[in-house]
Amino acid sequence: MKENVLKIVTQRMLKGSKFSPMREPILPVRNKIGIYLHIPFCKVPCPYCPYNRYPFREELKKPYIDAIKKEIDIYKERLDSTKISSLYIGGGTPTIRVRELVEAVEYLKQCFDVNEICVEANPDDLSGESLEALLDSDIKKLSIGVQSFDDDVLKNIGRLSHEGKTAFDAVKRALNKGFDTINVDMMFALPGQTFTHLKRDLETLANLEVPQVTIYPLLLFPYVRMAKDVKAGKTKLPPAKEEKTMYDEIITFLTSHNYEPASVWSFSRKGVEKYGSVEREEYIGIGAGAMSDTVLGVYSNTFAVDEYINTLNKGVLPIAFGHESSKKESMVKWFNMRLYELGFRKEDFSNHFGCTVEETLGSLIRIFRSLKLITIDDDSIKVPKSAFYSIHSITKTFLLTYIAKICEEGMKTPWPKEFEI
Ligand SMILES: C[S@@+](CC[C@H](N)C(=O)[O-])C[C@H]1O[C@@H](n2cnc3c(N)ncnc32)[C@H](O)[C@@H]1O
Ligand code: SF4
Repeated sequence: MKENVLKIVTQRMLKGSKFSPMREPILPVRNKIGIYLHIPFCKVPCPYCPYNRYPFREELKKPYIDAIKKEIDIYKERLDSTKISSLYIGGGTPTIRVRELVEAVEYLKQCFDVNEICVEANPDDLSGESLEALLDSDIKKLSIGVQSFDDDVLKNIGRLSHEGKTAFDAVKRALNKGFDTINVDMMFALPGQTFTHLKRDLETLANLEVPQVTIYPLLLFPYVRMAKDVKAGKTKLPPAKEEKTMYDEIITFLTSHNYEPASVWSFSRKGVEKYGSVEREEYIGIGAGAMSDTVLGVYSNTFAVDEYINTLNKGVLPIAFGHESSKKESMVKWFNMRLYELGFRKEDFSNHFGCTVEETLGSLIRIFRSLKLITIDDDSIKVPKSAFYSIHSITKTFLLTYIAKICEEGMKTPWPKEFEI
């Protein structure tokens, strides 16, 4: 019931944001920002995946990396003395060709002062040699996309690029290599996944002492193949109430096995460094379909790889569409992101926006407090454990409303016309 109300409130909050064709970047206001680099290729695209990714073609490898370098060159001029607090490389599959990945990272390091580097990896790419190449290039934070160690679950969801044993061996190998931290991505509420599957996966993770686990509920964006299969009755999802029971089970299991919640969907072993995310700060997105998010607005590159490459070959940034945000809108988005991370220090809000959170988001805070979604003290705003599932629902709605619409429009055509959330 409460979850349904929150869903409607979140949808209303997001409704009406207009995205228009855009060709110039909305530059960050700070001199310390993040960079998100997108590698949109996968060996075998998964039927549930909503992100911008295409089957890998060897002949695109060089032109894509050359285009990335051109985009970096343009931003280098525009961002002159800006420092890069974190470089986050996601996909697609960034590790599909480690040599080219390292080439792009080295180029970025020559152009910018980069602090930490995180990369998303597929288990089947993580040979000992590849792991060493990542470390040699100062990529010290690794996120491995396992989803499940169970072959039946992997087959059921069409995750065909690895088997359970490949994933187990890859995680074990990576754990012995000396990364600063390792995150493992898992999924729950999947077709054909039982509580026994879930429990076995959690036990495997705890036995391996994985530093951080992120476990996403299956998010079915309406345009993905699995959503169409569900609609046609070819794929069956677990009953909706099972998602909550599974979520409760995950929290209970991990918190009783030396993990503590780091966000609504992430759990870190006590005392270990958290796997980073670029979303804490303003960031610039590089690559096909990469989004940039600054205090003054959000914008996206064209999703189409050929258009991305051709545009950069003309010396022009491949920006396709965007949305200038009011300061209030940026604040609300930042606030919701921090609630996903289970809270924030009020000082962080003031440093980010130059005013206090109570001064500007007073009414939103009152609503969240009256719904018992947050607790407030002098220094911070926190999400109590009893509200985790509600924040999970808000985050899900945000992704399925806002991000889904942006991705859908971006994938439909390389240069979308105006659209509204
Ligand atoms: C977009 S992938 C990119 C990295 C890598 N290719 C992989 O699959 O791990 C990052 C993570 O997103 C999560 N993910 C992908 N599709 C999802 C979906 N429909 N619902 C929930 N999580 C999803 C998976 O856990 C995956 O590990
Ligand atoms: S989930 Fe990962 S491997 Fe699968 S299609 Fe998406 S990006 Fe590629």
